Amino acid sequence: MENQLLSSDVIAKRIDELAKQIKTDYQGQPLVLVGVLKGAFVLLADLSRSLWHHGFADIDIDFVGITSYGTDTESSKNPHIYLDLTTNIENRHVLIIEDIIDTGYSLDALIRILRVRQPASLKTLVLLSKKSRREVTVPVDYIGFEIDGWLEGYGLDVHRHRPDIVALSNA
Ligand code: IMP
Ligand code: MG
Repeated sequence: MENQLLSSDVIAKRIDELAKQIKTDYQGQPLVLVGVLKGAFVLLADLSRSLWHHGFADIDIDFVGITSYGTDTESSKNPHIYLDLTTNIENRHVLIIEDIIDTGYSLDALIRILRVRQPASLKTLVLLSKKSRREVTVPVDYIGFEIDGWLEGYGLDVHRHRPDIVALSNA
């Protein structure tokens, strides 16, 4: 069974608000957006174009691949990078773009890895946050929605290409 949590209109409106906030916060300083594959590919496409609409043009885009789950829906406490950036982020302002934060292990691992490369600043944006499931404390600078349940759509498994976000249940 599925239950629509966020329509594509609601998502688009929130992304527009976040883009506006980011534009204000960075004040035109060049920014590298790092999308976490695979889930963030839709979010990054929409957010980056929304930033353009708000007049934020000086942006580079790169991706990093990180595995967080095995065969089931339990989180791995040892996420690892399977695809690295091609951009040198030393002395650059970097904003990590992640679809969802659950336990926090993935984002925590990624922050540790990127921090070593000495970016000028390192911030994080997640579209969805499951606060009640957090096991490690991770600083998240921009949050789209606080939410619960097992979700799909808008980049998230299993139907990554569906435009809205639904919660799945067996009930
Ligand atoms: P964490 O390491 O437990 O915070 O897991 C974060 C990663 O797990 C996300 O980047 C997603 O890829 C995946 N994930 C967490 N919750 C969901 C969900 O409800 N649907 C689909 N993927 C999820
Ligand atoms: Mg992800």
